[in-house]
Parts: sequence; C-alpha cells; structure tokens
Amino acid sequence: MSMAAVDYDGLIPNNVALGGDVRVKRALEKWHPGYIGWWMDMGPEGFQNALVYLRTAIGVDPKGWAKFDYVRMPEYRWGILLAPPREGRKIPFGSHKGEDAWQEVPGEYRAMLRRLIVIQGDTEPASVEQQRHLGTTAPSLYDMRNLFQVNVEEGRHLWAMVYLLQKYFGADGREEAEALLQRRSGDPDTPRMLGAFNEKTPDWLSFFMFTYFTDRDGKMQLEALAQSGFDPLSRTCRFMLTEEAHHMFVGETGVTRIVQRTCEAMKEAGISDPNEIDKVRKLGVIDLPTIQKKANLHFSLTLDLFGNEISTNAANAFHAGLKGRFREDRLQDDHQLESGNYPVLRLIDGKVQNDDAPALSALNMRLRDDYVADCNIGVGRWNKVIAEHGIPFEIKLPHVAFHRHIGEFSRTNADVDGKILSPAEWTHRRTDFLPSAADKDFIESLMQPQFEPAKFASWIAPPRVGIDNKPGDFEYVKIADA
Ligand SMILES: [Fe+2]
Ligand SMILES: [Fe+2]
Repeated sequence: MSMAAVDYDGLIPNNVALGGDVRVKRALEKWHPGYIGWWMDMGPEGFQNALVYLRTAIGVDPKGWAKFDYVRMPEYRWGILLAPPREGRKIPFGSHKGEDAWQEVPGEYRAMLRRLIVIQGDTEPASVEQQRHLGTTAPSLYDMRNLFQVNVEEGRHLWAMVYLLQKYFGADGREEAEALLQRRSGDPDTPRMLGAFNEKTPDWLSFFMFTYFTDRDGKMQLEALAQSGFDPLSRTCRFMLTEEAHHMFVGETGVTRIVQRTCEAMKEAGISDPNEIDKVRKLGVIDLPTIQKKANLHFSLTLDLFGNEISTNAANAFHAGLKGRFREDRLQDDHQLESGNYPVLRLIDGKVQNDDAPALSALNMRLRDDYVADCNIGVGRWNKVIAEHGIPFEIKLPHVAFHRHIGEFSRTNADVDGKILSPAEWTHRRTDFLPSAADKDFIESLMQPQFEPAKFASWIAPPRVGIDNKPGDFEYVKIADA
C-alpha cells in the first residue's frame, strides 16, 4: 500500500497504515469516546442532529482530497491524513541542516517537540469551544454551514496532533492527549493554553474577524512547523494547511460581505459620511468605524500569540531543527542564523523604534512581521469594496504596539498609530479604539437568525458563489431533520 492510499473502512480513516499499527490504533480507539463526549458537550450547540453539507477529507491528492455530502456532525469522519512523504527529505534548517529528516523523535529534543505539538493541538478544540453558540444566530444557512465546516476541521486538527502524541510519545503522549480534552476555553481553573483562545467569540462579526486574523496565526504556525525536521509533524502540518485555507476564506469573505452590505445600504440611503454612526445603524447594518474597532481587537489579541519578540524558546526550536521560519524553503540564506541581525520593534526611552537583535533570537518577531504582511492583503480587498462605493473610509491594521498583553509593548499603552498614551489617556480613549458596551449591544441586536434558504440577515451580503458551486437557494443545513 502506498503511503498516500487512504483506508476509509475502519473507525478512523487514515493514510498512516493504522490497521498495521495495533498499539496506536488501540490508543486512538480508546481516546475516541472521550473525543465524541467532548464534541457533544462543547461542539456546536443545538445542531448536533442537523444534516450539514460538509466536505470531508478523503485523500491527500491536491486535486481531489475532499468530498461533499450531508452529514450529522457527530458522525463526521475525523481522519488522520498526512501529506505524502518527500523522498530523501533533509532537515532544512538549524544545526542539523542537511541531515536526513527524522522519522522518529530525536531523543534530545523530545520534550521541546512534545510541547510544540501540545500547544498547537490545544488551539484546535479551543476555537470550537469559542464558537459553539454561534449557530443559533447564523445570518444564513450558507454561513452556518461554513461555521460548522470550520468546527469539524478544527476537530480533525486535534486528531492530527493527538495522533502524533499517541504514536511517538508513549505514556506522556497519552496523558497529553487526555488533557487536550479536559481544558476548556475561558475556564478560570482549566483554561486553554494561549490567551486569544480564552476570549469570547460572541457574535458573527467576531467570528469572521477570528477566522481572518486568528486562523491566520494558525496558518503561520503550521507553515513554520511544516518545515520541521521531524518529518511526521511536517507532513501533518502540510495537509492541515490545505484545510486552513478555507477558514481564512470564510473570515475574509465574511468581512467583505459585511462591508459591502454596509456600503450598499449607505449609498441607497444617501449617506456619504461613514461617521454618521446612528444613521447608518438605523439601516440595520454595521457602521464602518465599528468594523474597524473589531479588527483592532482581534488583530491585537492575535499578535500576542506570536509570543515575546526576543525568545530563547524560538531560537532553541529553530537551532534544533524543529520549527522553521515562514516558508523557510523559499528563503535564500544559510538557514542557520548563527550570525546576522534582524530589526526588532522595541520601546526605547519611551519611543517605539527598531533595534537590531541576533536573528536567531528574533524569530518570533520575524514570523509576526510575515503575519502582518499577510493580514494586509485581505484588508486591501475590504478597502477596495469601500472605495468602489465612493465612501471616504479605509480600514487599517492598528500599530503592533496597540493593546498588547505579551511582549515588548505589554507594559505600556499605545493608540492605534503607536503613540504612547498615559494610563489616564488610555482609559479615556479606549472605546475610540475598541468596541464599547454600546457597540457590543448594537451588534448583538443585529444577531437575528436567518434560516431560510437563499435569505441573508440585513447586515451581510450574499456570497458571490456557493460552496461546491451550489446554487443560491441551496439548503446547506437541514435543520428540520434535527
Ligand atoms: Fe486548525
Ligand atoms: Fe483553522
């Protein structure tokens, strides 16, 4: 059997020849009921019996890896799929650069590698938990289906990480796999590991911002781990990236459709000033300044996921060959970074300025820079829609010093342009930058469900094309069967 062939007959679809690996197969089958229990408790609330038109990964061929069909979510086939091996793959960076990629865990790096896998794994169920109440306020069946698609795939990503833990880390891997089902997003006693994954996702604008900004952090982390010298991790992440692209598509197009609807409604009503917030809100759409505030919130929370700008952990993981840079294989340098500098934005003498740091220490900063550049692409598309309607407004990413809780700027307050504010100024101006209680109330008031095929809530435009090329009136979720 070639490694790419998928065994779809057993309990756990896979292309890792699980049938011939009795120990791991048993361990995963033992973990399975706990996973389903977690899904029933913490997965999409109120729709576990609905028939959802979902794609399921059934292979790893880039041209035909998924099939679409109606599925009840608890019956989704969560599988273990690794991208095909690359013959003769070498470790692409770090002190082991050029050696054969590891097929087993290198003993000296075992703890570091396990930690990387657990941190990645923890984010996957966390976002399902954060999004579990959103189904009840979906602005359309199309959007509801996209939410559930993202949810089941985050579930699969948890499986992907748990497979690595069960297969390669013995008893402590099993313990970690259990713990991944025990932690809960936002729980004061057993929270998820990273801050942004303990925040609420209270409404659909937040959901789209989350999938645009925070799933994109996921993409950056997966890209860096896809470079890993530990080949099973590399192959796992390569395939996860295929699914991840859809999550960011949901976020980017979701915000685009909201912006579009707002601009259309403003034009129809003859409102050209985007700051006439009350008038715009009366039209049943979300004013552009509030969309900007939500972007400020989710962007800044996500930047914290990149950790400290200067990081020994990141340097060690790179040196060890475990976690590379964004698209390491396309970079032109020595891939070892023993010398050379990288500019790091820091707070020096009360001013935000660049300061050269050893490149190896500055890897988090570098990944964050790549992330910001990637974020700006979609923001440009949102602005294009606004410009097409002739409205004088531009959505901008806030300065990286704005509203930070981790790293160089966590002990200071900055405005969205990076100007340092006194604590009093910050308190006074906070709701100029971030959603206020009134903004949240307004958005919440719009979150009325729209469950009729072909219909959309007042505040969001229909998509240009359907999922899997389905027509506009397609019934993406059959709630009546629930
Ligand atoms: Fe994921
Ligand atoms: Fe994702």
